[in-house]
Amino acid sequence: MKNKVQAGAQADGRAAGETDSMRAAVREVYGPADVIHESRRARPRIKADEVLIRVGAAGLDRGTWHMMTGKPYAMRAATGLRRPRNQVLGLDVAGTVAAVGAAVTLFREGDEVFGFGQGSFAEYTVAKERKLAPMPAGLSFAQAAVVPVSGATALQALRDAGRIQAGQNVLITGAGGGVGSYAVQLAKAFGATVTGVCSTAKMELVRSLGADHVVDYTREDFADGGPKYDLILDFAGSPTLSRLRRALVPTGTAVIGGSEQGGNFTGLGRQLRALAVSPFVPQRFLMLIAAERGPDLEQLSGFIADGHLTPCLERSYPLALVAQAMRHLESGSVRGKVAITL
Ligand SMILES: NC(=O)c1ccc[n+]([C@@H]2O[C@H](COP(=O)([O-])OP(=O)(O)OC[C@H]3O[C@@H](n4cnc5c(N)ncnc54)[C@H](OP(=O)(O)O)[C@@H]3O)[C@@H](O)[C@H]2O)c1
Repeated sequence: MKNKVQAGAQADGRAAGETDSMRAAVREVYGPADVIHESRRARPRIKADEVLIRVGAAGLDRGTWHMMTGKPYAMRAATGLRRPRNQVLGLDVAGTVAAVGAAVTLFREGDEVFGFGQGSFAEYTVAKERKLAPMPAGLSFAQAAVVPVSGATALQALRDAGRIQAGQNVLITGAGGGVGSYAVQLAKAFGATVTGVCSTAKMELVRSLGADHVVDYTREDFADGGPKYDLILDFAGSPTLSRLRRALVPTGTAVIGGSEQGGNFTGLGRQLRALAVSPFVPQRFLMLIAAERGPDLEQLSGFIADGHLTPCLERSYPLALVAQAMRHLESGSVRGKVAITL
């Protein structure tokens, strides 16, 4: 029997007599990592199609960095013009279902799930039912929590935008980072020959993820007359379009997903230039804005179950150290992903 929240019952999953507040990592203003602090907030309430999750762990990703800084500025139209509307940071989550809305059919109290929450750096978060999937077997909460944003982005970039085919020659920039560490493993699982681009410090890591070739961008230029690629996933380094064109075969595709870290108003300048150029050149240039979908999480779980994908979790931080975790991400030295554990 599913434990649904009925009229008059607690929509925030509280047992009788339990306090309504929770610990959370918040920021009241946009800014650098110093704006983050731990505080108490009201436990979120759920709507009919939502699930309340007791957070086991939350993943840290570049999107959450953008939410912290409020850059690029255009995003503030959705997140709050002068101050963030939702003060609790965090999107990726893995945890245990504490309560479900009246229209939820896929999950019930006690289920372990992972997916996209709203403010997951807290003891409790809320997620739409359609943005969740059952926890992948054999993973800890911290490992599962670093999958959704980066894993789904890599999957959609390869499968949907890139239409990857077995036997293709695929180049992945940022291969030792969040998206890249999934993209290398998934491209191998799709049967491609994979070249990862990263700094010297991450070459061993990228090799260990299964890359056939590794380019150290501090010593070599992947567009400098070497092999040509059928597909390039461009999530780091902001290569110019002419460099991407030089590195692609004449019918190749470049999927541009990496932003310019808030350097302009929309953060999408390079992507928009690529879209404008694409109709006039033989190669395809696409921009990707990843979607939050439960079925993609299930496909990622399948890759994990059959041994093709292992989340690359460098380390975990407690909730009190979210600012420190954010500074580590900002430094660019994270090997794969970091998690926040509750
Ligand atoms: N479009 C979407 O929907 C979407 C979704 C998720 C993320 N993103 C964007 O994608 C980008 C990457 O995200 P992420 O989560 O993977 O970030 P991340 O975890 O910080 O990884 C970025 C990686 O890029 C590497 N890098 C830096 N300069 C490079 C260069 N010139 N060539 C190759 N690698 C370089 C960094 O390490 P090393 O320099 O040590 O190699 C780092 O490992 C961000 O801009 C993010 O906003 C977009």
